[in-house]
Amino acid sequence: MEQDKFYVTTPIYYVNDVPHIGHAYTTIAADILARYYRLKGKRVFFLTGTDEHGQKVDKAAQDKRKTPKEHADIMVENFRALWSKLNISHDAFIRTTDTEHKNIVQSVLQELRDKGEIVKRAYSGWYCTPDERFWTEKEVVGGNCPDCKRPVEHIQEENYFFLMSKYQTRLIKHIEDNPSYIMPETRKNEVRGFLKNNDLGDLCISRPKSRLSWGVPLPFDEDFVTYVWFDALLNYYSGTKYLAKSPLQFWPASHHLVGKDILTTHAVYWSTMLMALGWDLPENIFAHGWWTVEGKKMSKSFGNVVDPNEMAEKYGVDAFRYFLFREVTFGLDGDFSEEALIRRINTDLANDLGNLLSRSLTMIEKYNEGIVPGPDKSKDGTPGISLKYHFTGIVDVTSDFPVSLPDNFGDYLYKLEFAQALSLLWRTISEVNKYIDIAAPWKQKDKDILFNVLYNLAESLRLIAIYLYPFMPDTANKIWKQLGIDADISNVIFDEAMEWGGIKPGTKVQKGEALFPRIDTKKKNKREKTMGKPAGAHADVPVSKEEPKDNLITINDFAKVQLKIGKVLEAERVEGSNKLVKLQVDTGESRQIVAGIGKAYTPEELNGRNIVVVTNLKPAKLMGVESQGMLLAATDKEGVLSIIVPEKNVKEGAVIK
Ligand code: MSP
Repeated sequence: MEQDKFYVTTPIYYVNDVPHIGHAYTTIAADILARYYRLKGKRVFFLTGTDEHGQKVDKAAQDKRKTPKEHADIMVENFRALWSKLNISHDAFIRTTDTEHKNIVQSVLQELRDKGEIVKRAYSGWYCTPDERFWTEKEVVGGNCPDCKRPVEHIQEENYFFLMSKYQTRLIKHIEDNPSYIMPETRKNEVRGFLKNNDLGDLCISRPKSRLSWGVPLPFDEDFVTYVWFDALLNYYSGTKYLAKSPLQFWPASHHLVGKDILTTHAVYWSTMLMALGWDLPENIFAHGWWTVEGKKMSKSFGNVVDPNEMAEKYGVDAFRYFLFREVTFGLDGDFSEEALIRRINTDLANDLGNLLSRSLTMIEKYNEGIVPGPDKSKDGTPGISLKYHFTGIVDVTSDFPVSLPDNFGDYLYKLEFAQALSLLWRTISEVNKYIDIAAPWKQKDKDILFNVLYNLAESLRLIAIYLYPFMPDTANKIWKQLGIDADISNVIFDEAMEWGGIKPGTKVQKGEALFPRIDTKKKNKREKTMGKPAGAHADVPVSKEEPKDNLITINDFAKVQLKIGKVLEAERVEGSNKLVKLQVDTGESRQIVAGIGKAYTPEELNGRNIVVVTNLKPAKLMGVESQGMLLAATDKEGVLSIIVPEKNVKEGAVIK
């Protein structure tokens, strides 16, 4: 795919029902790719749309006492509105009822008929009405459709057939010669296996008008309309002809993104149709997995269909987009739950990303009046210089993060490995968070070094936002705004913008609202329960009445104390006390802790640190402020107080035992 054009498609969606998470999934995937390749300077054509002919739509319209077109005109707006809400940047929206599309379908049918690729035959077979397809005697399972399991009907009639079987050997060869034609690998093997072990039949591409009138009429026989898939698949071609700005320059597609259930129609029907027409085949057909909901198949009858509108309104568009592509490897099935989504928001988005931005901007405000300072090159060897390496692709072999972000990120997107790209980016975000802890600006006496650190943070955030942009366009723009960068991130040229040093010294940052406010999952009333005795060390851990004489405890006694790694999200002094600090800590769930460490640590020093927390202490109030646990700290004979921190960067919520 070294060409300067990039053409990506989604399936065109049936307008028999409202959009659900499955529709949103493919469309966001296409959007991520389209946005990324636009930044990479390619000419992009991103096509989506609706499939408006056929039995399903006809039936849905009848149920609503509308004509199919009236019904489609109403339903199509649900898709348009959803794409606008989800920030989908498609270049064109095709409807199979567009006159231009129908004309192209008819001219293709005529061309194939003239070439002898479509013939009329008497036919009898088992027809599945909901799936709109015929099955052979062998394929039918106990009178039911092998796919949807609903009863099939025996039908005898004359029909038109596309001579698909002729292309079986050529298709196998094409799949074998082009390893990335069908992805992922497992799906490719399924299709290849099917083609090698079965005789490919010819494809019935017509329906008598007497049985179905809602379709594109065959140009050579007015008693028939064409099969909905024959009409639908051709959208990928017709869209480039009348909806792209410069006709045909985008053909063929770089990626057809589809769900696993419609891989055969694309890999077999579509590929052989193109072979018969003598047109170029797409570079790739990618079949993604299906979302289940809390372990169950999503279906109307279970009442568990996930509405993407609702998710976007409740949790934010970018959080929803992020979740879908971080949680599950593209290509595999995944399970959707709001708990999992909230977990991602609280950990990856609020703690890691949101906190990095807010800590960095707070320090720029505090130490340089909100102005991004100029880096001092002579002090380039200051702590964390390896930070640069992550962004510039120069691999620092001494780093414990020896990967080049620019190269690997691009490779992952090239292979549609979205989750891997995001995971890599989050490793970088966590490196930058770690850099703050190591560089400890609050302790820095040398102003030049301090300024270098602040500059490095602002610059890292500028670059992180560019990587985020394809996945979370709004968030990326918000980060740039808060950094004080006065430009639209969607207009950058990726390779130029990736050069280290892009943020101009003197830029005034504009710290705004938290990017992703944490979602408190803890029931309020649970928190408000018993606030007993003052918190002393282990004061409320039950102890046996009989104190052992040797002062030793058993392993069971120790096991009663739950210790976890917590990440400090916010720290501030308790009003009126020079000793108490109030911390918001993430220990896998959020909690507030009041600790008597205010003489040894400033709130800034604590922000973002990983600490050790006793998580099963009864809540208590200190100077009227609730504490839900205790952090561990040690004081030596000289009175030096140190908090206990993990030696490695273990994630918050990790259990200590
Ligand atoms: N109209 C045809 C496609 C024609 S393309 C030339 C069609 N439409 S559809 O509206 O029924 O389905 C569209 C897509 O939604 C398919 O890719 C399908 O895989 C996907 N999904 C439906 N349920 C899904 C999940 N539960 N999870 C993920 N995707 C799912 O088929």
